[in-house]
Amino acid sequence: MEKIKILLTENIHPVAKQRLEEEGFSVDLQSHSPTTADLISALKSYQVLGIRSKTELRKDLLSQSQHLMAVGCFCIGTNQVDLTTANSLGIPVFNAPYSNTRSVAELVIAEMVALSRQLGDRNTLAHQGGWLKSAEGAHEVRGKTLGIVGYGHIGSQVSVLAEAMGCRVIFYDIIKKLPLGNAVPVNSLSELLAKSDFVTLHVPETTETQNMIRRKELSQMKKGSFLINASRGTVVVIEDLAEALRQKHLAGCAIDVFPVEPASNKEKFQSPLQGLANVILTPHIGGSTEEAQYAIGLEVAESFIRYLKIGSSSGAVNFPRVDLPVSRGGARRILNVHRNEPGVLSEINALASKSGANIQAQYLSTDEKIGYMVMDVERAEASALAAEIGKLSRSIRTRLVF
Ligand code: NAI
Repeated sequence: MEKIKILLTENIHPVAKQRLEEEGFSVDLQSHSPTTADLISALKSYQVLGIRSKTELRKDLLSQSQHLMAVGCFCIGTNQVDLTTANSLGIPVFNAPYSNTRSVAELVIAEMVALSRQLGDRNTLAHQGGWLKSAEGAHEVRGKTLGIVGYGHIGSQVSVLAEAMGCRVIFYDIIKKLPLGNAVPVNSLSELLAKSDFVTLHVPETTETQNMIRRKELSQMKKGSFLINASRGTVVVIEDLAEALRQKHLAGCAIDVFPVEPASNKEKFQSPLQGLANVILTPHIGGSTEEAQYAIGLEVAESFIRYLKIGSSSGAVNFPRVDLPVSRGGARRILNVHRNEPGVLSEINALASKSGANIQAQYLSTDEKIGYMVMDVERAEASALAAEIGKLSRSIRTRLVF
């Protein structure tokens, strides 16, 4: 394992380096996002690469990086990587989709209170020398109904926290979900919109959720209610929302994600919601906390460790999934990625049988293009057998662990 060198770029949380070094890997940290040319040259000396969202790994880079065994996106998204090419080269790409769940949920709870008390506007006014001491339009969240659209990782966490604040929680999801606490599922989005004092959106970006909240849906919301969106910018038609706020149909909103977002902190941000009353606008920071960065560092490091040490590919977004136990004593493990074509497994098994190897366990998982085969065989035959398997015309990568 000490022969495997790992490069972590883009200021990945140091906990990842620490955890990987504990397992015997050699790790270098870089604070910046390298250019493609620099990375192609660096990857001659590294076998595993960690990036965040800025480093692009396209086809030319991947196909020139023969030694690359695995990629970790220490973030949520993976569209900076050409996943199809990585798949066909047998390179799993890991990410950490749920490490910032709690951070988003906490922001939503804070926003419910902030909207109910018009904190944003009163704070701005106080900074400008104003003094708006009045109870008018200010409410407790206790006893109010929170409607959660999308009861997945984030939605269900919001549910638990909101109940602790004394809210009634209802939710709508396209999949049947086990309600937590006293939360109650409803049958349709319109039912949820009509019953909620707060609506919070926690759906993924899909063709169904694109423009899910338009003029019609906003008009179904209660007069004086609030909308919170920390999911994806395309879920809400922002011009329709601005209109509902100008008409005072909604009493405010908190929006963290936008249909078009600046690519960097240097770019100007523009939105039809700017300047409207009781509107909280945040720059896509729902999941941006130090705790989440730490959790992401640890989660991807653990995925690397499981893949490199025992071959488990769970957590990879572009690779057949194999969850593995540590092999029984005395065995070595052969990991083989091959083109998914009929007859490959029988070729592998014919080689095993010819070599006289005693197979202790075998696992196979496939996707459209590749198959991932893991085989535990007795120590004596393992190395020669792995070499033979590696020579098969449809083998892409073969390695031995233990
Ligand atoms: P998840 O996959 O755990 O949950 C999504 C839920 O939405 C699932 O239960 C799914 O069945 C449901 N759903 C899908 N389509 C639906 C529809 N048409 N109507 C109702 N329900 C539907 O996802 P997770 O982790 O809870 O994330 C939710 C959203 O939050 C994602 O869009 C993600 O990109 C976003 N997010 C935003 C962050 C930020 O910084 N603001 C940080 C992390 C995630």
